[in-house]
Amino acid sequence: MPRGRPWDCRSRLRSRSAVTLPTGRDEAAPTPAEAVSAKVASVQPVGGETAGQPVAIESFLAELVVFREAAAAALDGVADSAGLEQARIEFLGARSGRLKAIQKLLSGLALADRPAGGRHFNEAKGAVTALFAAVADRLAAGGAAGATAAAIDVTLPGEPVRLGHVHPITQTIRRVQEIMARLGFESVDGPEVEDQWHNFEALAIPAEHPARDPLDNFYLAVARGSDPLLLRSQTSTVQIRVMENRQPPLRIVSLGRVYRPDTADATHYPMFHQVEGLLIERGTTMAHLKSVLRQLASSFLGGDVHVRFRPSFFPFTEPSVEFDMEWGGRWIEMGGAGMVDPAVLAAVGYDPEDVSGFAFGLGVERIAARRYGVADIRDFYRNDVRFLRQF
Ligand code: PHE
Repeated sequence: MPRGRPWDCRSRLRSRSAVTLPTGRDEAAPTPAEAVSAKVASVQPVGGETAGQPVAIESFLAELVVFREAAAAALDGVADSAGLEQARIEFLGARSGRLKAIQKLLSGLALADRPAGGRHFNEAKGAVTALFAAVADRLAAGGAAGATAAAIDVTLPGEPVRLGHVHPITQTIRRVQEIMARLGFESVDGPEVEDQWHNFEALAIPAEHPARDPLDNFYLAVARGSDPLLLRSQTSTVQIRVMENRQPPLRIVSLGRVYRPDTADATHYPMFHQVEGLLIERGTTMAHLKSVLRQLASSFLGGDVHVRFRPSFFPFTEPSVEFDMEWGGRWIEMGGAGMVDPAVLAAVGYDPEDVSGFAFGLGVERIAARRYGVADIRDFYRNDVRFLRQF
């Protein structure tokens, strides 16, 4: 037959399935024992033998082989003691068992063949009897499940269970939330997909502001009406969301992901995490801001950490600063902060003459890298367990 032709292959598959699939009439495929019985019948019909008829030693031995195979196959399928007893009667039954029928053939063997025939007969009988005993033991031990359980060597050393743990960034987030909670700041969440109002406008970042440049933001292909949506570029969005829904006094902290199309390097990644803090009360000053930042830094990094402000600019704070922390003899740039701009307070319906507040934002990766001595923030996202296991 030519090989490798697709149409040959298809027709072969079709004809094969026509032969082997069970039909409505022929419901169950023959069990191994039935199949072997059929073989026995075709080899030599033992049932009809009468004692004393001449039997060739070859066909006698063939009977023994078939008997052993059939018994083994039948025992394989035995699931309970009733099945075992049924098989015992069929194969080893003293009156009409298949072994008994073969025994009757012994006398038909030529005299010279009888000793050999008897030896093979006893051997087959012994082997099949032993098989029955083994199955009886297996059933007594609790069936197949018992057999599996018995196969487990409980004296072998166990497999160590490897416990996972929380990612270092998540650990950092939880630690900051804990510290801030002690200072009375409640943790809140905001959405990562934002609209123009919360990411820019309410934060006094007008339409023409360079911070809204499509090259500096991940705008989405979907929009809400005519308002394009984007992945938030800062967690300051949450300040607006909270102030829109609550009245002062407020102390909240929000930690979450932000997105900027930065090229990944040792200190940048297109997705990172920010801590956003916001406090709105009567009579808030920059001194309050500085002491909160100093508390946060000292608790997080350990020891007495100094904080320094450098003048800066953010559209939504006035005055604005960037703040550094001195730790291990070095000043490290940490984030941005300032007094909430009166325009922002007005945008959410607060009275800037009545309340004031401060806000700050800092990168979670930055403080985590500082605390754990990680030189490259990309390591946090490589998911190399050899790295992650250290925390
Ligand atoms: N949102 C600013 C940033 O992402 C940080 C900031 C937060 C500045 C709050 C001032 C007040 O850079």
